[in-house]
Amino acid sequence: MNATPPPIPPHDLFGRPLRDLRLSLIEACNFRCPYCMPAERVPDDYGLDAASRLSLDEIETLVRAFVRLGVRKLRLTGGEPLLRRRLPELVARLAAIPELEDLALTTNGALLAPQARALREAGLRRITVSLDALDPGLFRALSGGRGEVEAVLAGIAAAHAAGFAPVKLNCVMQRGVNEDALFPLLEYARRHGHVLRFIEFMDVGTCNGWRRERVVPSRELRDRIHARWPLRPLQPHYRGEVATRYAFADGKGEVGFVSSVSEPFCGDCHRARVSADGRLYTCLFAATGHDLRPALAEGEAALARHVATLWSQRADRYSELRGTPVAPRRHVEMFLVGG
Ligand code: GTP
Ligand code: 5AD
Ligand code: SF4
Ligand code: SF4
Repeated sequence: MNATPPPIPPHDLFGRPLRDLRLSLIEACNFRCPYCMPAERVPDDYGLDAASRLSLDEIETLVRAFVRLGVRKLRLTGGEPLLRRRLPELVARLAAIPELEDLALTTNGALLAPQARALREAGLRRITVSLDALDPGLFRALSGGRGEVEAVLAGIAAAHAAGFAPVKLNCVMQRGVNEDALFPLLEYARRHGHVLRFIEFMDVGTCNGWRRERVVPSRELRDRIHARWPLRPLQPHYRGEVATRYAFADGKGEVGFVSSVSEPFCGDCHRARVSADGRLYTCLFAATGHDLRPALAEGEAALARHVATLWSQRADRYSELRGTPVAPRRHVEMFLVGG
């Protein structure tokens, strides 16, 4: 006898619904950030052959299936999503899905300047650019010797000019590595009206040499910033928002903190991740993914039923278990699921 199918929209074993989808379009990247894809561990030509990636048609069907399950926010990630061919065409197809309330993209920004306007015109709503330092030498080192900060700043300016307002900036602060970038980055963001967010260095993947001593807790950063520019806490936009937000009391915008090491937020985690080859990861720290391709081949409704079953069995809460004996030890690589 068949088991009763899970209700749609599904809830997981902790009662968490499925609201956000983070979809990787490509596993390749033109950077080799040591905290994600260290050059000495990942070869220069790393990447699947293009045929292993979901096609644009498959991506649209997949997103429509997730929308049936309650997903309202879609974030396109990589690797580096701007390396994916025909990206504006894909964005336009996804932007036409009426129930999707939010369509965003996270990029390293190096290839953004020539693409920003086409992405905006295709219907992309929001853009987040990773930016860990402004000093050209430090930036290059943090990108594994691949990136030029000037190109990224040009990409951010182009995005702003194309109507992405505000542009969000992600900075991973590491103890003894880029702490000196704190105030220059804040000055830059405040001057241009961008929203800067600090992400705690995480033990994602298997090859980034994570050590807890390298994590700069958000509380410490917040106190340092507050001493220079007083901050006022802001209410979350919605339950389960990843970043804790503060306004600058002088009215010059806001700053956010993603504190997944010091203050885990698994209790409200309603995010699913799908890799470029169509595997579902129910946690950023999951060891393995579920291959969605067979169900996807049967169409939107079949895929929705399959994902509902998988989601209803979900019990992930890695960040709450970190450091305890029951915490899973194997994790998917960050560049396969885009953070
Ligand atoms: P907004 O939609 O603008 O609020 O951004 P977001 O926080 O959804 O997206 P973004 O890609 O900028 O996320 C920031 C970073 O926070 C990610 O790259 C991850 O490093 C981290 N992050 C996001 N979601 C999770 C999560 O569910 N668990 C953990 N541990 N980290 C997460
Ligand atoms: N810890 C925290 N954030 C990370 N990112 C990549 N690797 C890590 C890590 N180990 C960030 C990138 C990017 C986002 C997608 O994830 O800087 O902004
Ligand atoms: Fe590429 Fe982003 Fe990973 Fe850096 S963090 S190596 S830019 S995918
Ligand atoms: Fe969600 Fe896993 Fe991150 Fe917890 S560790 S917030 S369950 S993705």
